[in-house]
Amino acid sequence: MQLIYQSYYFNTKQKNKIILISRCMYNLLRSILFCFDPEQVHYFSMNLLQSVCKTKPGRWFVQKLFKPADQPVEVGGLTFRNPVGLAAGFDKNASYLLALDSLGFSHVEIGTVTPRAQEGNEKPRLFRLKKDYALINRMGFNNQGVDLVKQHVLQWRRDHPQSTLMVGGNIGKNKITSNEDAWNDYLLCFEALYDVVDYFTVNVSSPNTPGLRALQEVEALEVILQALADARRAETVIKPVFLKIAPDMNDADALAVAALVARLNLTGLIISNTTIDRKNLRTPEQELERIGPGGLSGMPLKNRAQQLLHRIAADYGHQLVLVGSGGIFTASDARERMQAGASLIQVWTSFVYAGPSVIKNILSK
Ligand SMILES: Cc1cc2nc3c(=O)[nH]c(=O)nc-3n(C[C@H](O)[C@H](O)[C@H](O)COP(=O)(O)O)c2cc1C
Repeated sequence: MQLIYQSYYFNTKQKNKIILISRCMYNLLRSILFCFDPEQVHYFSMNLLQSVCKTKPGRWFVQKLFKPADQPVEVGGLTFRNPVGLAAGFDKNASYLLALDSLGFSHVEIGTVTPRAQEGNEKPRLFRLKKDYALINRMGFNNQGVDLVKQHVLQWRRDHPQSTLMVGGNIGKNKITSNEDAWNDYLLCFEALYDVVDYFTVNVSSPNTPGLRALQEVEALEVILQALADARRAETVIKPVFLKIAPDMNDADALAVAALVARLNLTGLIISNTTIDRKNLRTPEQELERIGPGGLSGMPLKNRAQQLLHRIAADYGHQLVLVGSGGIFTASDARERMQAGASLIQVWTSFVYAGPSVIKNILSK
């Protein structure tokens, strides 16, 4: 796997010298950053990048280096400037939209946001599996709560009215809310964010909130999605609503969920969230035990996410908009996902391993 990755990394025809240099610089930087705690590195590097982008020359430089030329795609009535977005959980509180816009993502999915702020699980809760080009996380929906997150998005919109970045609101429930009352948490977030985000994602597929995945069962899910569909009907502008599903569902259950989303006239599915599966990893068993539970992302997720997307596209590709997420590192990964039926793709773990040039890499032909 390492060989495949490295051969992609170093052997493909490099059209752009600057990108090659920036990749090499990122490799060097990564070897330093990887000496420190992953969560601290995340905040440190994003705060730094955001500060750089707040200055005009800094933003110009970042855009020059990383932002790809537009390759617009129409999805769910919105125009995305390219098909590559940043998956949920990276900018949970909408704190880094300026930096992420400057890097060239077409969309950033903020959240998962819950009605009230919550700390999330005890630290450490984010781990690197370097041998597998993967991460394990059990963050547990740490976020500042929907009201504050809304203020961040509003501020961003006020400061950057010309930006073409699409902002998606990924919504969830608080840990202390029972599954019976979960619909109300989703509705609260939906209504609070309705005027400030471009689309929504309903997250019932995180493995890190106890019992959350039970909400993927059709009966429980219908209560939540129906509440959102009704609320959306009352709005003057109809915004796209996606459901994000787990790769650990079997195909039949995933198809039943897709049928529900289609029946309620929602927009589509994001396939997929992280997995609890630990099969076929290079990371030694002992280390996996030391890390403990959480959602696995990155390269090991690629095949299942691709397969599930393919399966759902076969039956619902004509009715639902599909978004690919999980183990997308290269242009050929992205192409496979689009050929299987995805209209957009999202990255998270490859951004950590390949650095900010991942967007241009993926968009290269
Ligand atoms: C640290 C971390 C936190 C995440 N938090 C969320 C989250 O809050 N909500 C969500 O829907 N997905 C979350 N995800 C899942 C990602 O959005 C993405 O679907 C998943 O990691 C698969 O993509 P990847 O292989 O490119 O990382 C998180 C992933 C990571 C690594």
